Amino acid sequence: MFWDGTTLDPQEGIKFRGKTIQECQNLLPGDPREKGKSEFLPESMLWFLMTGQVPTVQQTGGLVRELAQRGKNLPVYTERIMDNLPKDMHPMTQLAIGLASMNKSSLFSAKYQEGTIGKGDYWEYVYEDALNLISALPLLTGKIYSNIVNDGEPLGQFNPDRDWSYNIASLLGMTFRDSVNKQHMTADQCEDFTNLVRLYCGIHVDHEGGNVSAHTTHLVGSALSDPYLSYSSGIMGLAGPLHGLAAQEVVRFLVEMNSEIESPENEKQVEEYLWKILKSNRVIPGYGHAVLRKPDPRFEAMLRFVEDRQQEFAQDKNVQLMKKMSQVAPKVLAKHGKTKNPFPNVDSASGILFHHYGIQELLFFTVIFGCSRSIGPLTQLVWDRALGLPIERPKSVDLNTIRSLCK
Ligand code: MLT
Repeated sequence: MFWDGTTLDPQEGIKFRGKTIQECQNLLPGDPREKGKSEFLPESMLWFLMTGQVPTVQQTGGLVRELAQRGKNLPVYTERIMDNLPKDMHPMTQLAIGLASMNKSSLFSAKYQEGTIGKGDYWEYVYEDALNLISALPLLTGKIYSNIVNDGEPLGQFNPDRDWSYNIASLLGMTFRDSVNKQHMTADQCEDFTNLVRLYCGIHVDHEGGNVSAHTTHLVGSALSDPYLSYSSGIMGLAGPLHGLAAQEVVRFLVEMNSEIESPENEKQVEEYLWKILKSNRVIPGYGHAVLRKPDPRFEAMLRFVEDRQQEFAQDKNVQLMKKMSQVAPKVLAKHGKTKNPFPNVDSASGILFHHYGIQELLFFTVIFGCSRSIGPLTQLVWDRALGLPIERPKSVDLNTIRSLCK
């Protein structure tokens, strides 16, 4: 399939418009008010993927304000739907429902129904919908989190003067101002959490086109379903344990393992535990990847986040075990010989960092993934329509055809 914003090399990992994660970290603007401490903003990445040009600080600032203006309210009907969902409904189901409901205000869909636009104009309305969808995600995410942990009562407020990730953090109740700060975090910890959201959302935006969420968005969009319907379908795929839900499995695994070993520092015990898992035909979650054959550079970026904050993470047994596993598991898996890629992928680090800061509802991690993943596939959807790509319609064959082909 054609996919322009990102490419995935088995050895080098993900590249965004040809740039590695570290190059993006050096090039893409962060929040200027944090004077060099900020991770690059997902808004910078959105600009970069959409245009192929590295934005200036001013251009990023303009896009930050644009998204905040568009995203300061959810449509009333979406809010009503979200308020009335069972509070214990799966967070990804809530996200898919919320996004699909917004198709009521799709500009593309309205124009298409009117029959007033030609093929050459489709992309402009898809672009407007894409930006509106992305900008709605902080409020929608906050609504889902407050539904599952706070009986629907807001945990923070939307600040139209701040960036998209800050508002996600704030609506999760995790910023020093604008939030209830139920975790009682210090100002520095709150700033670190906002930067974790920026980093996580900045590097999960896309993983070339073939992953389930990106491919689904592209496939559904190819039928000229609007961006809300297309991306809510992508979200349904992201909810699968072999895709976005994997980070949850890792957290469970690390917590259980820590309860059975004396210390994450005890390499021999870690190794023995991993062999026990493999011998009982279970998998080690967070290791291996369908395409990658080297450690996932997204994992390495999350690890650098931890290394830069050694004091913060020193007492967290789960984070320490995650680090130890990344040294021990590749050797064990290589010796075991059944995996093509014995290295850690991004899931082995991401969930446990959210867990560290107090996000304990494991099913919810994938909603934050869903915020990030909107950026790549929706950018591609704009380009799909600009380039007039056709409906995706693979030919299928039945078993008899396969038999005769084999013969
Ligand atoms: C992703 O980020 O989409 C995952 O690593 C899965 C994949 O690339 O297939």
